Amino acid sequence: MAEQPLLKRAVLTGAGAYLPAQILTNEDMAKRVDTSDEWIVERTGIRQRHFAAPHETAAYMGAEAGRQAMEKAGLQPEALGAIIVATSTPDQPFPATAVRIQAALGAKNAFGFDLSAACSGFIYGLSIADAMLRSGQVKSVLVIGTEVFSRLLNFEDRATCVLFGDGAGAALLEVREVEKSGPGLLSTHLYADGTFGDILYVDGGIGQKDKPGHLVMHGREVFRHAVNLLAGAVSDALAENNLTAADIDLLVPHQANKRIIDGVGKKLGLPAERVAITVDQHANTSAASIPLALVSAIQDGRAAPGRLLLLEALGGGLTWGSALLRM
Ligand code: COA
Repeated sequence: MAEQPLLKRAVLTGAGAYLPAQILTNEDMAKRVDTSDEWIVERTGIRQRHFAAPHETAAYMGAEAGRQAMEKAGLQPEALGAIIVATSTPDQPFPATAVRIQAALGAKNAFGFDLSAACSGFIYGLSIADAMLRSGQVKSVLVIGTEVFSRLLNFEDRATCVLFGDGAGAALLEVREVEKSGPGLLSTHLYADGTFGDILYVDGGIGQKDKPGHLVMHGREVFRHAVNLLAGAVSDALAENNLTAADIDLLVPHQANKRIIDGVGKKLGLPAERVAITVDQHANTSAASIPLALVSAIQDGRAAPGRLLLLEALGGGLTWGSALLRM
């Protein structure tokens, strides 16, 4: 039989996570706003969230998660090619969080930048890393999602402040020559529709005078679009790779809401054991939620080598996307 040509792929060689020590249960939230454990669990599946202490900034948490990913991969800091940080809650407008993390890791040969795609940021980051690695621009990229949404929340708005939490997750991708059936990113698909810009947004920021900005969400509108848009992103990913839902070993979705996750899982016909869920423990950590769920699935053995993972996310923008990753 003729030998199969090898393919250049972005292979996941390490992953890491960081969660702040402070945990707030739904009962704790009920002491701050007019809500209940029952309401939150029934509508979202969320049971608790982590909130950052003052020193736990996006850069601090991202560096901790990134360091872990590098250690798992056994890559020395000087060998790292690039750092991409997906965040909506950077420490400062500049320097970029990625550059702060570069300094913290001692990754002196890496360049770095932040990207803003809200909850889809990690998928966007994977897609850019994939292109940089396969084009030969760099040999390794650390993709980090890190968020302190607790600092963006309006604690007068009970419909949003109970939904989010803080944390960071990281994935180290390295270019490898592999067989078609081997590991790595098989594809990424990105989408955006700015006409939905006002259903999930921050109502201020540095560019707006005297408006620090809080998260605003029209939850029903977001919910209404989420399952269908995500199903489209998922079916594009499967079609491009001539795969069906039956080929997916594990769905690793953005962790916003258990009902949205269940909706996508149901459309794909996946049983519960093939869907990674951490929203109950972390709430919505925006760009950090997929790498946090991925690390949890690596730890529980469901993201073992050889397994095919489908990642998907939707967030403010609207932005959304999917990625197929063989471990
Ligand atoms: N605790 C108790 N009651 C609450 C509450 C809370 N934290 N937040 C809202 N309510 C009340 C409302 O005041 C309203 O009461 P009313 O009927 O007396 O007016 C009722 O619950 C229903 O509010 P509504 O906002 O319509 O709820 P919903 O069924 O749409 O659920 C979400 C709200 C946010 C859980 C839901 O819309 C959702 O999950 N949306 C998607 C959000 C998401 O995942 N976004 C992130 C994408 S990155």
